[in-house]
Amino acid sequence: MSEKLTVGLLGTGIMGAAMARNLLKAGHAVRVWNRSADKAAPLAEDGAEVAGTPADAVRDADVVITMLYDGEAVRQVMDEAYPAARSGALWMQSTTVSLEDVDRLAEDAGRHGLVFFDAPVLGTRQPAEAGQLTVLAAGPPEQRDAIAPVFDAVGAKTVWLRNPGEATRLKLVANSWVLALTHAGAETLSLAEALGVDPDKFLELIAGGPLDNAYLRTKVGLVRGDQLSPASFAVNTAEKDARLIAEAGRRHGVRLDLAEAGAERFRRATEQGHGDKDMAASYYASFDK
Ligand SMILES: NC(=O)c1ccc[n+]([C@@H]2O[C@H](COP(=O)([O-])OP(=O)(O)OC[C@H]3O[C@@H](n4cnc5c(N)ncnc54)[C@H](OP(=O)(O)O)[C@@H]3O)[C@@H](O)[C@H]2O)c1
Repeated sequence: MSEKLTVGLLGTGIMGAAMARNLLKAGHAVRVWNRSADKAAPLAEDGAEVAGTPADAVRDADVVITMLYDGEAVRQVMDEAYPAARSGALWMQSTTVSLEDVDRLAEDAGRHGLVFFDAPVLGTRQPAEAGQLTVLAAGPPEQRDAIAPVFDAVGAKTVWLRNPGEATRLKLVANSWVLALTHAGAETLSLAEALGVDPDKFLELIAGGPLDNAYLRTKVGLVRGDQLSPASFAVNTAEKDARLIAEAGRRHGVRLDLAEAGAERFRRATEQGHGDKDMAASYYASFDK
């Protein structure tokens, strides 16, 4: 039996709610807070304590988890939480943020006596619900065993890296690939339709060969089946990640044309009213309306 911990989880969106449920299933005591209270309330039925403020969620917790939109949201919410957090509490920061944000959050954590783990996750709604995420984790080696029960509850695998920032670097690299695949599928489908090519003919053409790809089939299937809601990974969140990737490239001297163009596709899809849909809705950005 692994140790049962008290966890304060801030942000019960697509990913945070699923993570909270798996922590509860693993027997941990979980307190949740969300800016829009209606998204946290249903977790009471799973056994979570629903807190009215970030401070109430993290008070005396062994572990604090942040699963918010971006670095700015994490800063705002943690500023409210710090005064109540226990000195020495472990902080799993899983929001996808910029490299500059990681440095700043790690510094803030140190100033407030929290032990910081840069811990973004790989995997979307379904793996999150199944507790099958991959946790990319960097934090103090001597505290790994203490936080491992939390990583094990939400993920199937933990990839350990040495220093905070390294986990987010790997996450941005992985998302660069994921977002490029998403747009490639979306554009290929829209081109096939525009040229009067049956998309099934294209899928048959690549079936089983080196060009075939399960992710392509899943995302194209969502568009063709009109199954973009509820999102696994929403367009507006994907745009945020695309801009983080493009910015990281710029700061480190590489041109990332696909990331820049991809961010624009997501922006256009949002403008067309698809911001809350799955990022496969990049497809709509191929059309004027
Ligand atoms: N979905 C995925 O496949 C996936 C996979 C890996 C990593 N991620 C990353 O995980 C994070 C969460 O993603 P998600 O898909 O769960 O997104 P989501 O469903 O949109 O949840 C975002 C959460 O952030 C909160 N939030 C946004 N701005 C805030 C602010 N200024 N102050 C307080 N709370 C704020 C939202 O609160 P409200 O409910 O009040 O809006 C919501 O709880 C993102 O960084 C994303 O890049 C997502």
